[in-house]
Amino acid sequence: HSVSIIERDIVIIGAGASGLTAATELRKAGLTVAVLEARDRVGGRLHTDEIDGAMLEIGGQWVSPDQDALKETIAELGLETFARYREGESVYINAAGERTRFEGEIFPVSAETEREMVALIATLDALVAQMDPDRPWAHPHAVELDQISFRHWLEQETDDQEARDNISLFIAGAMLTKPAHAFSTLQAVLMAASAGSFSNLVDADFILDERVVGGLQRVPILLAENLGDDVFLGQAVRTVRCDAAGVRVLTDDLEVRARRVIVAVPPVLYTRISFEPPLPRRQQMMHQHLSMGFVIKVHAVYETPFWREDGLSGTAFSPYELSHEAYDNTNFGDARGTLVGFVSDEAADGVFTVSDEERKQRILTSLSHYFGEKALSPVVYYESDWGTEEWTRGAYAASFDLGGLARFGADLRTPVGPIFFSCSDLAGKGYQHVDGAIRMGRETAAEIVAGLDS
Ligand code: FDA
Repeated sequence: HSVSIIERDIVIIGAGASGLTAATELRKAGLTVAVLEARDRVGGRLHTDEIDGAMLEIGGQWVSPDQDALKETIAELGLETFARYREGESVYINAAGERTRFEGEIFPVSAETEREMVALIATLDALVAQMDPDRPWAHPHAVELDQISFRHWLEQETDDQEARDNISLFIAGAMLTKPAHAFSTLQAVLMAASAGSFSNLVDADFILDERVVGGLQRVPILLAENLGDDVFLGQAVRTVRCDAAGVRVLTDDLEVRARRVIVAVPPVLYTRISFEPPLPRRQQMMHQHLSMGFVIKVHAVYETPFWREDGLSGTAFSPYELSHEAYDNTNFGDARGTLVGFVSDEAADGVFTVSDEERKQRILTSLSHYFGEKALSPVVYYESDWGTEEWTRGAYAASFDLGGLARFGADLRTPVGPIFFSCSDLAGKGYQHVDGAIRMGRETAAEIVAGLDS
């Protein structure tokens, strides 16, 4: 069939937060753009959908106070935010399955374990203070920290198993969504540095502060609306061809001729594109050392937010539960109550070996351990499973294997001729978050504009 040829200054592959931000900035600089998106919707890992009459945020949703690039974008687009419900007590379940209600940040553990947890947090905060999140490979101990898994580092630091399990939770299950033996301590320190400090990750009130009314996908939807006809849906890019004349980006229906291309897709998907000529050795090797984490985000909607009457905030943690964390995720102005839980990495693999019904029962049973019997009977239940999404392939984002960050990190964002890379998974500040996606989009656009001027 026939292929339409269009010409633009810059072509952007991927209509996620990063690609759409880059396109918006390039337009502001007076350049023409085309954004090619494989899916039939924009937003990538931001997706709000209506499931059985309930509005659910299937991908990213929370905004934290330090995320100023995201906050600026939200304000510019005229979107409103609301605070996550957090009145009342949180719940912690220990290794013995004992449930305790608590307030504040530190889980209710023995005085000894608390001392160990506080010491670990202080040690990690000190390591974070030595790191510029945009240059983690330049940390004074980068090479040695990248040689040891976070799990083994924790074992060296303390014999207290419960302290290790809890500190591990904040980075492994809750952020990188990989087992703590599968990523390095340098990668763990970057995760914390990208959010300001390790203490910030421990503070749920900080890290999960606000949501956007109508859902965070409003951000890419409005950015795309402003770009209008320059966003092309259902256009999976197959080939990026570069020669002296510029770049040619090919989908099954379109050929876009441009001066520069921004590849704004998760790095695990770079191999889905044929680069002609092939990417250099450094990139081809580096990209093999990045892989996606995996987490199931579970929504359970109830007639009422019953836990609130019980004096509970809906916030719950346990490294020993299938759903290692849970929060009140009730929508703005909604009379019904919604809980969100998360099942990460190997626990997620495990529940995908049983039937849908069995998995649902196991996950709801885990929520009932925190919030009581009523949690067993939601009116709407939904598991978001990004592992089955061919244009994402996991959640939340990509991270390096052991040794990869020190070895390759400095080249992660380096352009290759006219080819630029932009994604939350390559960001320093805001890494793995929408804030990082937006920061990278802005930086990549600025770098391109500066390069064209010179
Ligand atoms: P993203 O993956 O969103 O966009 C890439 C786009 O490229 C996609 O639209 C894809 O379809 C497209 N694409 C891929 N290959 C292509 C090809 N060959 N041709 C054309 N198009 C192609 N963050 C946060 O700040 N707060 C939060 O609460 C959460 N929570 C959270 C929960 C869950 C379940 C997930 C999955 C993720 C989060 N995140 C999050 C992370 C956040 O959603 C994520 O970091 C950003 O949305 C990523 O934006 P990008 O634009 O970088 O990539």
